[in-house]
Amino acid sequence: MFEEYFNAAPVGLLIYNSEGEYLDTNPATCRMLGYTREELLSLTIKNLLVPGAEEAHRISFARLKAAGSASGERSMRRKDGTRIEVMTHSIAISEGRFLAFCSDLSPQRTAERRGGLYHDAMESLEQAVIIADLSGAIIEVNRAFCELYGYSTQEVLGKNPRILNPSRSAYIDLGYTGEEYDQLFRGLWESIRDPLRGSWKGTVVNRRKDGNLVWASLQIDTIHDEAGQALGYVGLPFDISESRRKEKLSKVELYSTIAALADLRDNETGGHMKRVGLFTKLLAKAQGMPRQYCDDIEFFAPMHDIGKVGILDSILLAPRKLSPEEFEEMKVHTVLGHNIVKGKKELEMVSAITLRHHERWDGSGYPGGLAGEDIPLSARITAVADIYDALRSARPYKRAWSHEEAVAEIRAISGRHLDPGLVDFFLGLASTFEMVYARIK
Ligand SMILES: [Fe+2]
Ligand SMILES: [Fe+2]
Repeated sequence: MFEEYFNAAPVGLLIYNSEGEYLDTNPATCRMLGYTREELLSLTIKNLLVPGAEEAHRISFARLKAAGSASGERSMRRKDGTRIEVMTHSIAISEGRFLAFCSDLSPQRTAERRGGLYHDAMESLEQAVIIADLSGAIIEVNRAFCELYGYSTQEVLGKNPRILNPSRSAYIDLGYTGEEYDQLFRGLWESIRDPLRGSWKGTVVNRRKDGNLVWASLQIDTIHDEAGQALGYVGLPFDISESRRKEKLSKVELYSTIAALADLRDNETGGHMKRVGLFTKLLAKAQGMPRQYCDDIEFFAPMHDIGKVGILDSILLAPRKLSPEEFEEMKVHTVLGHNIVKGKKELEMVSAITLRHHERWDGSGYPGGLAGEDIPLSARITAVADIYDALRSARPYKRAWSHEEAVAEIRAISGRHLDPGLVDFFLGLASTFEMVYARIK
């Protein structure tokens, strides 16, 4: 029974006498040290010491003899001359003999060394890394991750990566539809849970701890063990905000130029575009829209008449009231403008504005006859701003109205032409509008 255990034991067992001569050993020891049993039994402990370990051995052997037991880590020399790190527990047994339990520390040491190496590598990467377990709890982030998102490691460990999601409405403010948002995350989870794919790559919007948004190109891979079992997920987010911003700006500049061209043909001045931008920003702020939205509408609202590039001079420049046929032709500038900018994600807002800025709250506008909140907010805001500015300005067929006349007119068409809620904000801001109009010509 004892012998069976002795031979089958997973740890090395050695019995030796007070001279350090080996009296018995088991197969685990032989495997560990590379000797046969016969070879080992012809040796003493001293034969297995690595150079320079004699003194340490003498002390620990003396301690074992005095105390009856001793433990420690030591290096031993294998038959082939290589070193092996071993943990030994030795005890005194009967007849002046000792029994040592030895276990090989090498796998553990290698794992520790590799673990240390992986950790150092993670920390020196410029690429942010985030690792989550299957339940979605964050178990590891690196330095680059902390720098990108402004969180410390402690603040995110155990949390769900969802803390980086700025919410559905933030995506919608950036021009995504609700359906696109749902599709994005559905697609992400389906891909990484699909055993055949196990990975996903795409663009997401993240919120930093300080509240600022970052565009990230994100690669997620499922981590598998050797048996193919999923263990968790590793995410590699890469900050692309700067390139997104530049891309957006250059597109916006291009379309601003076209819009300015359209206004030029219409005998509008640059002042009109600038003022309409400021007015819409004021109204968007009053409406409580997020900062990004307010900045965007200031940029995009001035482009509402971009489609006028495609309207004939004879109609666009007619110094008189248009005939019904001509007016129908003129209405097309909304659809033309929409066609210029549609399908471009960064220009989602301007495409809504170009198409809908002549819709009316009561449904009597064009081109769709949309009513109430079916008209995008950006277009309703632009309508208030554009009408105030148009009323104040002289046109070939009308004189410039005073501020008071313009305010009275806007109050009069509230709830019919214009969103009454926005008109209320306008009335609260009327003196600011007057100042902006006077300042920017
Ligand atoms: Fe227009
Ligand atoms: Fe306008």
